Amino acid sequence: MREALAEEFGVEPEAVVVTSGATEALYVLLQSLVGPGEEVVVLEPFFDVYLPDAFLAGAGVRLVRLGLTQEGFRLDLKALEEAITPRIRALLLNAPMNPTGLVFGEEELRAVAELARRYDLFLVSDEVYDELYYGERPRRLRDFAPERTFTVGSAGKRLEATGYRVGWIVGPKAFMPTLAGMRQWTSFSAPTPLQAGVAEALRLARKEGFYEALREGYRKRRDLLLSGLRSMGLKVYEPEGTYFLMAELPGFDAFQLVEAARVALIPASAFYREDPPPGLFRFAFCKSEEEISLALDRLAAVVNSPA
Ligand SMILES: Cc1ncc(COP(=O)(O)O)c(C=O)c1O
Repeated sequence: MREALAEEFGVEPEAVVVTSGATEALYVLLQSLVGPGEEVVVLEPFFDVYLPDAFLAGAGVRLVRLGLTQEGFRLDLKALEEAITPRIRALLLNAPMNPTGLVFGEEELRAVAELARRYDLFLVSDEVYDELYYGERPRRLRDFAPERTFTVGSAGKRLEATGYRVGWIVGPKAFMPTLAGMRQWTSFSAPTPLQAGVAEALRLARKEGFYEALREGYRKRRDLLLSGLRSMGLKVYEPEGTYFLMAELPGFDAFQLVEAARVALIPASAFYREDPPPGLFRFAFCKSEEEISLALDRLAAVVNSPA
């Protein structure tokens, strides 16, 4: 599997560590890179495991909130730089981003790499949705700072095989024995028969256009959900990647929506430590078109009914 990933990323197999899902990759990275008295910068809204992973490593977290305007979410590079103190050891980024669907452009990636070099920081780049984008293929953070970037990936997301629990870290070769040592004390190794299967599937996926088909299928479902929510008059933030999007349903709460519409949405409070933007929810469209249409009908009945 390391060879298959080395081919894919244009690195040597020694630059790859295979893990039990991206979840373990993130745990191993934070255990290895940060410790007591140190802190990691995390962008908010964030995927839930980042905070506990930092805390389990004995480290602190400094949150940098994405800007949110009518046009959508934006990385505030000035706020990112202002968050860097002598305690900060690493910046943790995720793109395409869960929950916002945000993708960082080349200028932003270059600026983040520049900051990391200036302040001598590690970069942890969670790219589990790397093949799930709707515009141009996004660049990778590691292209701009390969000497300090650890790229996290997931066979679960790439191949729609979440149950396999296989993931990976691609990073600077000199650090990989430390990461491999750390993971020896967690799950020892991802199951080898699954690794063999994933290695073969990664090669076939590239050769047989699996990712193009994946994007096409999700683009259809994204557009169905976008147009359905917009026709209800809701404010929707169009995702540039992932199978998530955020939209505003002011005046509703998640429990009420489950009960009244039988549609489960994740409230923004799951992705913000405090003061989440009011009325904001994450929708997941990793469902069939029929299920999405049914959910839209049920939501419309609740949203459009007089209070
Ligand atoms: C941004 C992000 N990172 C990591 C993971 C975990 O991936 P895995 O299932 O490979 O552990 C997820 C899963 O939802 C995710 O959304």
